[in-house]
Amino acid sequence: MYKLKETLISEEEIKAKVKEMGKKIEEDYKGEEVLLVGILKGASIFAADLVRSIDLDVKIDFMSVSSYGNSTQSSNTVKILKDLDTDIKGRNVLIVEDIIDTGLTLSNLVAALKTRKPKSLKLCTLIDKPARRTTDILVDYKGFVIEDKFIVGYGLDYAERFRNLPFIGILEDTEE
Ligand code: IMP
Ligand code: MG
Repeated sequence: MYKLKETLISEEEIKAKVKEMGKKIEEDYKGEEVLLVGILKGASIFAADLVRSIDLDVKIDFMSVSSYGNSTQSSNTVKILKDLDTDIKGRNVLIVEDIIDTGLTLSNLVAALKTRKPKSLKLCTLIDKPARRTTDILVDYKGFVIEDKFIVGYGLDYAERFRNLPFIGILEDTEE
């Protein structure tokens, strides 16, 4: 059995950070159109809040991907389970992730999206967990950098549970 052990990032801290990230994005893309691409399912809640903190001509779309590559495989091993509804050619694309762990999901996705010739392609993640990174990946916007702990809440799940928590917490295995 898993239960919540402690709160790592409170609802208030998340709110303040999302607002701050939105303002930064707003400044950087001033006068431009931007397409936020949220990665399902984890980033859906973050993307929904982030888009409302950006006062620009901003659009939103979602993708679902599964990464089955590992660091010893060099090829593009991202499997697109749900693709974008829109063509990104010539557009400013900002990928919105919940968490970057090994970085495999995103580095594969970036490679795949680059072939579609967007005008620009940047990365935004709420949480960065650099301890287990196996790929070189440049993150343009990051909210919180955390240690190597398994976290849930605010979109992040353990076996599909806990996504609905308004804060981010650490799980504990109670061995029951
Ligand atoms: P990566 O390819 O290793 O960077 O995997 C990133 C994905 O793994 C995220 O989009 C999450 O779905 C999942 N993930 C990684 N760490 C955590 C965590 O601490 N809690 C919940 N999901 C996680
Ligand atoms: Mg995810």
